[in-house]
Amino acid sequence: MKTQIKPITPESLSEAKNIIFDGGVVAIPTETVYGLGGNAFDDRAVQRIFEVKGRPNDNPLIAHVHSDYDLLKIIDYDPPYAKKLREAFLPGPLTLVYPSTGKVSPYVSCGLQTLAVRIPAHAGAQAFLREVDIPIVAPSANISKHVSPTSAQHVYEDFEGKIPLILDGGACEGGIESTVCDVTGEVPVILRPGLITREMIADMVGVCEEYTPDFKSGEKVKSPGVLYKHYAPRCKTLLFGAEDIEGALKTYIKEKNMGKRTFILCEESLVSVFKTAGADTLNLGSTDSEMASRLYELLREAEKLCDVLIAVEPRKTDGIMVGVMNRLKKAFGSVDVKH
Ligand code: TXA
Ligand code: MG
Repeated sequence: MKTQIKPITPESLSEAKNIIFDGGVVAIPTETVYGLGGNAFDDRAVQRIFEVKGRPNDNPLIAHVHSDYDLLKIIDYDPPYAKKLREAFLPGPLTLVYPSTGKVSPYVSCGLQTLAVRIPAHAGAQAFLREVDIPIVAPSANISKHVSPTSAQHVYEDFEGKIPLILDGGACEGGIESTVCDVTGEVPVILRPGLITREMIADMVGVCEEYTPDFKSGEKVKSPGVLYKHYAPRCKTLLFGAEDIEGALKTYIKEKNMGKRTFILCEESLVSVFKTAGADTLNLGSTDSEMASRLYELLREAEKLCDVLIAVEPRKTDGIMVGVMNRLKKAFGSVDVKH
């Protein structure tokens, strides 16, 4: 199969629509990362997504809809606080998990009674979703466990020959996946941190909890995605705490002396420190949103440049950095996850 990358035009949108209604998958841009989209009502299309990504079949998908789509077609109950959150943040990088009507394919939620719904802000995503006018399930458009894609080229690198069409909407500004927030209970609970922070949600509706899975208890995990090693670049990775600049540098020298192509990924303020010491660096940036938006791009660049990637954790850990740290730790395999 030939994989084409096309800019978003009336012609490419109509081609994408035909592929979707034929049961195929199309890669689409969003403001967070690119997604691999298929018809949420079509069992075959949904199964095809799991297959082409190599995604574990217990990790449910997010249904994407345009901003005028009637949510009550697919969700069963819409608590008043969820409406407030939609008014404040959507379209945007926030996914809400509702009780499902069960109208979409049962493969979407992998047996859960809930459905994750996202209304992306990206103009190209909205144009595509209006064109098809059905819910589109779209996980990040990367081979399972690999770094999520923030450009059409990244998608091409993972899926060349496996999907027919990538709609090119430019580089994703957000850079990390949407915040996933459960709205099936009394209060919102964040299942995956992202650009819409716990503080932002709490400011809007008074309270917001954060779910931390207890891997050891054997309890059924609410958001199965949290269990898996994710976002990993294909090189050796070593993560150091924000205070351990010396440790990072020592390891850098050791790896270099063994002939390994080695880089240090760090926030902007440390770049000159490492450079002065003679190390090659990758600059994560200085503001929260810069670090979110550059992270995956740099991890993908690193796997081309490096045998060994050393990262130093950013010093700031609140707000958007909760999401950035979550991705960084998973990419470096330093959290308790299934492999
Ligand atoms: O920004 C995003 O959310 C991107 C773009 C393409 O929209 N999509 C994305 O999809 O990141 P994916 O499949 O890579 O991640 C979906 C996450 C997983 O952690 C999954 O476990 C969780 O959402 N999820 C999906 N449905 C769920 C449900 N019914 N209940 C709890 N968690 C759910
Ligand atoms: Mg993903």
